[in-house]
Amino acid sequence: MVIYFTGTGNSRYAAKHIADILGDELVSLNELMKTKKSGTFKSEKAYVIVTPDYMSRMPIPVENFLKESTFTSGKEVYFVLTGGAAAGNARKYCEKLAASKGLTYKGTTAVKMPANYVVMYDVTPKQNAKAEAEKALPAIEKVAENIKSGKTVTVSEDMSGHKAFSAIAPMFNSLMVSAKSFTANNNCIGCGTCASLCPLNNIKLSNGKPAWGTECMHCMACISACPEKAIDYGKKTADRQRYYLSDEE
Ligand SMILES: Cc1cc2nc3c(=O)[nH]c(=O)nc-3n(C[C@H](O)[C@H](O)[C@H](O)COP(=O)(O)O)c2cc1C
Ligand code: SF4
Ligand code: SF4
Repeated sequence: MVIYFTGTGNSRYAAKHIADILGDELVSLNELMKTKKSGTFKSEKAYVIVTPDYMSRMPIPVENFLKESTFTSGKEVYFVLTGGAAAGNARKYCEKLAASKGLTYKGTTAVKMPANYVVMYDVTPKQNAKAEAEKALPAIEKVAENIKSGKTVTVSEDMSGHKAFSAIAPMFNSLMVSAKSFTANNNCIGCGTCASLCPLNNIKLSNGKPAWGTECMHCMACISACPEKAIDYGKKTADRQRYYLSDEE
């Protein structure tokens, strides 16, 4: 069973290709996290968990959701992180999670994909996003083939940087991760895409405009997927492009 979480579509793209090669089912954590505090997963095959890499580890709300979830015990579990640059010590937290769920840990790997943290830096322009994601296909296919043949997987040397980040991720979240600076301008057409994509249900439409609450994991779905480019984050994003890889890509 391939279980994925995504903010801007990279991890869904990787997960879909892995599930295709494994001939296995694909499960979205986004939908589950919107409505529940935990999930129940049953599979005869290995679990493959695909998520973005936030501060050199799995996003903490995703880790917490999986910690609360139930899995058919004794099964093997693989972790595949998609990241722009580095997965530091992500392995340590994935291994702990596997042990806490009674799953046999088969390794963590990281696949380089377009960096999406638009409130921090310039990201790939929309028109290049699909081509950029396609560049990751050989690495995604190699991971899937390794999983298919039951091999263990590891994070390659070039994706092993920023080890210190993994440990300070909780502090980074409490100091830096907030929805306070999101605003919607007059280009907003009230379509509700931002609210429907928010995995933490942190956006409500009020008088046809989004209003952000206090639960935010900085997944970048709202600001990246808005069809009118109506969302900004303080003054940082006005001149920046955004991309969102849709389910069809
Ligand atoms: C909050 C946040 C933190 C991130 N931290 C890292 C990081 O530590 N290392 C890295 O390689 N990429 C980092 N990125 C980039 C994403 O991991 C990368 O673009 C990922 O493929 C996005 O996946 P998604 O489209 O499935 O959400 C970060 C992105 C966000 C939004
Ligand atoms: S996605 Fe954009 S246009 Fe649609 S409601 Fe949200 S801010 Fe408005
Ligand atoms: S408010 Fe936006 S950035 Fe924050 S979790 Fe929701 S969709 Fe992601």
